[in-house]
Amino acid sequence: MLRIGPLTLKTPLLLAPIAGHCDLPFRLLCREQGGVGLASTDLLNSRAILNGSAKTLELAATCAADDPCGMQLYGNGDDPLPEAACWAVDHGAHLIDINMGCPVDKVAKKHGGSLLLRDCSATTLLAERIVKAVERHSGGRVPVTAKMRLGWDPEHFVAPRLARDLESIGIQAVTVHGRWTVQFFSGKADWARIGEVVNAVRDIPVIGNGDITEPMHVISMLRETGCDGVMIGRGALRTPWIFRHAWELLQMQTPDPTFLREPELHEKLMMVRRHLALLEERGYSERHALHTMKLRMGWYGKSMPGTKPLREQFRTASNVAEMWRAIEECVLIGHSGGLGAG
Ligand SMILES: Cc1cc2nc3c(=O)[nH]c(=O)nc-3n(C[C@H](O)[C@H](O)[C@H](O)COP(=O)(O)O)c2cc1C
Repeated sequence: MLRIGPLTLKTPLLLAPIAGHCDLPFRLLCREQGGVGLASTDLLNSRAILNGSAKTLELAATCAADDPCGMQLYGNGDDPLPEAACWAVDHGAHLIDINMGCPVDKVAKKHGGSLLLRDCSATTLLAERIVKAVERHSGGRVPVTAKMRLGWDPEHFVAPRLARDLESIGIQAVTVHGRWTVQFFSGKADWARIGEVVNAVRDIPVIGNGDITEPMHVISMLRETGCDGVMIGRGALRTPWIFRHAWELLQMQTPDPTFLREPELHEKLMMVRRHLALLEERGYSERHALHTMKLRMGWYGKSMPGTKPLREQFRTASNVAEMWRAIEECVLIGHSGGLGAG
């Protein structure tokens, strides 16, 4: 079992924050598919949280079924991160994660994210202030973690040292995305370097992240790096059942992917339907639901042969009612065996 301070996760598999994609409906969808040990909000601006920005509050939304839920914050030493972390504790966070990896200019040029990898001493002091505030505010109930990259560039491989320093001030787990900031998302994640971070810390768990697109990759990452948990991002956007499959493999004495059962087309259609329903149930605007499902149907559709007309209907839909009609019709045809390959 993966333990992060006082929190014991049911599986060592984590859904990565992916800004614009891992909102509450998607987190719930992945949880319902099975195998998710922890899911987090996308990165939240500490000032925007405290100013009550409607957009940020929507991003911070959680609910009883979204459990356990991490809330990820970003900011720099001048930002009210400790206060925002306490706000998050009061609004349902079971874990606070500090973003030390975002490479996007808007964040990393001045506000935080990967910028925090450039001055590790200052970052450790900042993390210590957050840890102390959360410890006091939650009575030790809520752990604080950090998600980092290897370093800004290959000349600055700071992750092992930073992880060890963060451990010494009370950070209770680190996630390492095996890329440099300058890489953004290109090239391959360097799992060997993740292994070096595992060797650098004393007791806290290290969660490996980067390029897991098949359930079997989870087994390989655990073996190759010695990490304690695995975080999956882009791989889950196409196949939200990847956590269930990876968890099934982890429970096999000899993990063998040929024993995994690919969901039937009907189950995938029901999943698309559920995603749409969750967006509505959670009160997201029609505009957001339309935008999300157009994108998602394109991604989910890649493993749904015979659904080209459905994908086209989603792509051209001008309202959610049209999407509902299209999916219900497709579910009915699917039931009667009318969907073929192609
Ligand atoms: C579009 C996009 C948005 C992302 N947003 C966040 C974010 O809000 N917080 C964060 O820590 N990482 C973010 N990431 C990084 C992912 O969490 C993850 O570290 C990265 O995609 C590598 O994992 P993967 O190969 O499993 O996708 C983002 C990645 C992408 C592609």
